[in-house]
Amino acid sequence: MSSAPAFLNGEYLPLEECRVSVLDRGFIFGDGIYELITVYQNQPFYLAQHLDRLQRSLSEIKVVSPYSESEWKELITNLIQRSEDQDLAIYIQVTRGVAPRDHVYANNMTPTVFAMANKLPIVPKKFLEKGIELVTTTDTRWQRCDIKAISLLANILAKQEATEADAVETIMIRDDCALEGSASNLFLVRNGIVYTHPKDNLILPGITRDFTIELLEELGIECKQQHIPKDWLYSSDELWITSSTKEVLAATKIDQRLVADGKPGEVWRKTYNLYQQHKM
Ligand SMILES: Cc1ncc(COP(=O)(O)O)c(C=O)c1O
Repeated sequence: MSSAPAFLNGEYLPLEECRVSVLDRGFIFGDGIYELITVYQNQPFYLAQHLDRLQRSLSEIKVVSPYSESEWKELITNLIQRSEDQDLAIYIQVTRGVAPRDHVYANNMTPTVFAMANKLPIVPKKFLEKGIELVTTTDTRWQRCDIKAISLLANILAKQEATEADAVETIMIRDDCALEGSASNLFLVRNGIVYTHPKDNLILPGITRDFTIELLEELGIECKQQHIPKDWLYSSDELWITSSTKEVLAATKIDQRLVADGKPGEVWRKTYNLYQQHKM
């Protein structure tokens, strides 16, 4: 299989030829941010929103964006053109750059920019037909989950709990609130109203979350952005997760208990169908 097209500090090259210094602060400290953009039929999906979030993540970690918006767009277009596939997941990572190891950083560092275009993983049919299984765990992440930081250790450990329980995703619980998944946002349906945690420092402001809220508006279904008590997870009519690669998936089991009748619900189906229409 040929290597994925990649970009490193101004150069386009095959993924396996990309090399960065071990003194890169991304490697040493996890000092950087990332973005993941899906591409359907060669068209980036919700690109402006992803680039806004990339810019916001950079500002929050006090790195000046190395590229303008049009340069980021050009980079993405070039990766799409170099790819064999038309449906892609474009990963972009910016770290603070290379320097002798020291917590303190200089303000004039040159950021490291890496990007790669991989084939978009297909959402398994059985996830759509039968729904997925979730587990819950205590959220051990920091207080700035709104930054799309590459330091993902707590998310990784949480996700592994799901994998080891034969589940797909782990829902983070903090102060008895269900916040989001280890790599997705959370939606819950209760008596015809859809709920999701408000945008604050405790969740990543998912682009798919915003898109799902727009879809619900279009469908005329009420969506409240408010705290979700943990015990609602076990008494909801529907539970969903959203992310760029998973789109919107219904969960039919959580912590080994059935969600309602254990089948993907009607509100999810309408939202999922509308999502697919917008992708075209
Ligand atoms: C912690 C977390 N929440 C939510 C999301 C979903 O974000 P998006 O819809 O932009 O893919 C992700 C995606 O990676 C994530 O890591």
